[in-house]
Amino acid sequence: MASSRNLQAKTCQVPDTTVVEGDCLDILSEQRAHFADLVYIDPPFFTQKHHKLKTKDRSRTFSFSDLWDSHEEYARFFFDRLQVCWQVMRPTASLYFHCDRNAVHIVRMILDEVFGNENFRSEIIWTYRRWSNSRRGLLPAHQNILCYTKSSDFTFNTIYTEYSPSTNIDQILQQRERDADGKSVYKRDSHGQPIANGSKRGVPLGDVWDIPYLNPKARERVGYPTQKPILLLERIISLSSNPCDLVLDPFCGSGTTLVAAKMLGRKYMGIDTSRDACELAQSRLDNPIKSESNLLQSGRESYRNADEEILRFLHEISFAPVQRNRGIDAILDREIDGKPILVRIQRQSETVYECATKLLKASNGKDAGALFVIKTHDENTLGFFDAIPSNVTVFDSTSYSIGEAIKQLNIHEPLAGR
Ligand SMILES: C[S@@+](CC[C@H](N)C(=O)[O-])C[C@H]1O[C@@H](n2cnc3c(N)ncnc32)[C@H](O)[C@@H]1O
Repeated sequence: MASSRNLQAKTCQVPDTTVVEGDCLDILSEQRAHFADLVYIDPPFFTQKHHKLKTKDRSRTFSFSDLWDSHEEYARFFFDRLQVCWQVMRPTASLYFHCDRNAVHIVRMILDEVFGNENFRSEIIWTYRRWSNSRRGLLPAHQNILCYTKSSDFTFNTIYTEYSPSTNIDQILQQRERDADGKSVYKRDSHGQPIANGSKRGVPLGDVWDIPYLNPKARERVGYPTQKPILLLERIISLSSNPCDLVLDPFCGSGTTLVAAKMLGRKYMGIDTSRDACELAQSRLDNPIKSESNLLQSGRESYRNADEEILRFLHEISFAPVQRNRGIDAILDREIDGKPILVRIQRQSETVYECATKLLKASNGKDAGALFVIKTHDENTLGFFDAIPSNVTVFDSTSYSIGEAIKQLNIHEPLAGR
């Protein structure tokens, strides 16, 4: 049974803002043709799992099934549903299909069949950082979003991104030409002045998108399994639709697409077989929350605070610099009894005791095998070693080889392949 609720959109004044419970095949078959300007599909990915997640307060559990008998069953399921999507799309509409390495090869073939290979526009790689040691092999750190349009005449708004720090802005702002030897030189007017190249807005957005995955504590997270970030959907909606256009999500889950569409002044229609998902989507629409990404605002580089100068004291040994921790400078590549060795190098402004105390404090909860302080200068304080915590070893970088000391201690290289 299908149920729906219409909301008045503030910006468009058109009541096409709907969340509908049901199979998108049935619901879309009942709709008039050519009403959607943009379709985003984030369906089950052929993970062969039943996805289940609790809300942050653990009061509710949301789930959906991603279990299939075969690739053929999966392909048939999407062939039927993509055909009805095609029917409801306007001639200028685009469709974005979100998938991953489990089924991207199958989805690509079906999309080619429904839309025609000539209407394939892009394969977007959504990449994000993850921490996991659990498997042998490369850590999956991307998903695929395939973009097709209904025709060659489609809505597209170029998004410009910043030039990279190494770009020579001078060269971009001034016109260039080839001289008699074929060398690229600045083009000059009759007075010898360089000619401007018109205004530049940056580099057009590419097809690899580095957008952080929602962290478990993000305010935006509602506890729906595989919930996508609003930021990702905002980008797709901005690229391929205009204000008041209708955005359709036939597998809407917790309603991320609908929330992003609402925030950008688009109309929307969401469909999901799960009543729980529809109710959740509706409640998110009633009270939209988006987490700002500090990572995107300040850039990944801003998180790098390892002091490259000070790390030169470790030139004899292999180590990994530690970012985002003001007490630990490095983790050695070797370990003691399977536990890491944490290192701090004494700063000019601190005593060995202060250095050791900072390291000890920062190591709390890290189950370190050893704590090493590298002393970089002499102090006038007599007997400073007395106060050093017993589990911290102090090396004098000026008189003692750290590499030699490491050889004498019972320190091993970690096992390969972990
Ligand atoms: C990956 S989730 C969508 C997550 C969503 N993008 C979000 O950010 O919360 C896939 C959704 O597809 C729904 N679904 C599965 N089969 C469906 C069908 N035939 N019609 C409509 N929805 C379906 C599931 O209930 C599930 O909520």
